[in-house]
Amino acid sequence: SEDKSTDVVWHQASVSHQDRVAAKGHQAAVLWFTGLSGSGKSTLANAVDKMLHERGASTYVLDGDNVRHGLNGDLGFADSDRVENIRRIGEVAKLFVDAGLVVSTAFISPFRADRAMVRGLLNDKQFIEVFVDTPLEVCERRDPKGLYKLARAGEIKHFTGIDSAYEAPSSPHLRLDTARHNVQQCAQQVIDYLIAQQIIS
Ligand code: PPS
Repeated sequence: SEDKSTDVVWHQASVSHQDRVAAKGHQAAVLWFTGLSGSGKSTLANAVDKMLHERGASTYVLDGDNVRHGLNGDLGFADSDRVENIRRIGEVAKLFVDAGLVVSTAFISPFRADRAMVRGLLNDKQFIEVFVDTPLEVCERRDPKGLYKLARAGEIKHFTGIDSAYEAPSSPHLRLDTARHNVQQCAQQVIDYLIAQQIIS
């Protein structure tokens, strides 16, 4: 019918992922920052995002500020809620990658199986696991939001690292040592990796 052929023409005219990537001049990928609360995920994701943006890349950051208050505002911190939190973020990150962006996500994402699930949504080169490897004692000393203190006092239940598990990545693409290196150095380590992988030039 006429409708069907109209449909075919529309598909032929649609913009492919390769078209989008070619227009931007870099590859698309997810930088999946994972680590304990207070490890520096959000700070580093935003620092990397700024450096990429300054180089002319199309980028975006997904973190608690724009996800847990909006899309995932119905979710708490029970294991099942964390699983659903990461599943939805993974799907959103996948859409951003399809759009041709370098997207940095900053969530504790404590469970290995969930990070593997997100990896499975993307191509091999499109998922980059960035382990923000800050020891619990350092995070607890920093305690930027005072949450570890509350968790130790039993006023917050199921707090990651205290009474809820954090499964560290066994073979992350990148491991950032924030106890030894400053924000600038850690962010540069990520940029150098993206260049080495020919995601950006
Ligand atoms: S998860 O595990 O990936 O679903 O968590 P995430 O979405 O990254 O949210 C972590 C931030 O929420 C605050 N918060 C808690 N974290 C861990 N455990 C419990 N019970 C908890 N309750 C609130 C905390 O500020 C985390 O912030 P970050 O930025 O990670 O320090």
